[in-house]
Amino acid sequence: MTPLLLNLDSSPTLAAALCERLEAEPGTLETRNFPDGESYLRVLNPVQGREVIILCNLVDPDARTLRLIFLADTLRELGARRIGLVSPYLAYMRQDKRFQPGECVSSRPFAALLSRYLDWLVTMDPHLHRYHALDQIYSIPTRIVPAAPLIARWIRDNVPNPVLLGPDMESEQWVAQVAALAGAPFEILNKVRSGDYTVSISQPAALDQQRTPVLIDDIISSGRTMLQTIRHLRQRPVCIGVHGLFAADAYQLLQDVAEVVTTECVPHPSNRIPIAPALADGVRELLAR
Ligand code: R5P
Repeated sequence: MTPLLLNLDSSPTLAAALCERLEAEPGTLETRNFPDGESYLRVLNPVQGREVIILCNLVDPDARTLRLIFLADTLRELGARRIGLVSPYLAYMRQDKRFQPGECVSSRPFAALLSRYLDWLVTMDPHLHRYHALDQIYSIPTRIVPAAPLIARWIRDNVPNPVLLGPDMESEQWVAQVAALAGAPFEILNKVRSGDYTVSISQPAALDQQRTPVLIDDIISSGRTMLQTIRHLRQRPVCIGVHGLFAADAYQLLQDVAEVVTTECVPHPSNRIPIAPALADGVRELLAR
C-alpha cells in the first residue's frame, strides 16, 4: 500500500519533494489551537494498516514536540502499520553531558520520549560528540543521512580552489569526509567555549593565500564559532553549516564577513544545498525493513 506522508509544521517544499521521490501520498492534517492555546489535531486520511511518514523538523523543538507526540499516538490508535519520523534537524543532541551539577542531560529524556511513540527515525548529521551513535540513546531503528557528499558536490561546483577549515575537534568527522570527496586540503582548529556567546578558536597554520577558506560546521547557532574563526583569516571565506539555526543576529553578522551557505535542513534564505533525494534514500531503507 502507498505510504502516507504527513507534514507536521514543516517545509511544504521538502514534503512535496519527499512525496515525489518516495511515491508517497501527501496526507492532510487539521491543526489549530484552542482559545486557551492547547493543540487540536485531526488526521483526515485513513491510516489503518499503512506505513505513515511524519515530516516534523524538530527545529524549535519545545513548540513542536508535543504535537508530534499527539500525532504519533493518534496514528497508533487509528491502526497505522508503522510510524516513522523524518526530522532533518535532530534537537537536543548537544546536551549530551552534565556540565554543571544538577543539569538535565536533555538528549536522553528527549530520545526516550520519541522512541516510545515512533517506530523509526531518519535525520541528517545529528550532533554526535560524546555519543558515537544514535542507538546509545534511541531504542528505535535510525538512519543518519550524511551531508558530506552534498556539501562536497556544492564546493566542487562553486568554489574553485578551496581549503577547508573545521573550527573544533567535533567537526573533523564532517570536514575530513568533505575534504576527501571534494579533493581539497583541510585543517582542524581548537575551540574553547566559555559561554553561549563566548568562544575562542586557535589560529590556523599559514594558509595558502591562493585558496578560498571554506569553514564547515554541523550547526551554526549564535554564529560565534564561525565569527571567531573568521577573525584569523585574511580572505573572505565561505561558511557552510549543515543546520543553520541562526540565533539572534548571527546571520546578519556572518553575512557581513562571509558567504553563508546551508543545507535545506533548516529552512532559511541561506539554503543552497538540497537534501530531499538523500533523505528519501534513508527513508526507503527503513521502509524496506
Ligand atoms: C558544537 O560543538 C557544534 O558543533 C557547533 O560548533 C556549535 O553548535 C556552533 O555554535 P555557535 O554558532 O553558537 O558558536
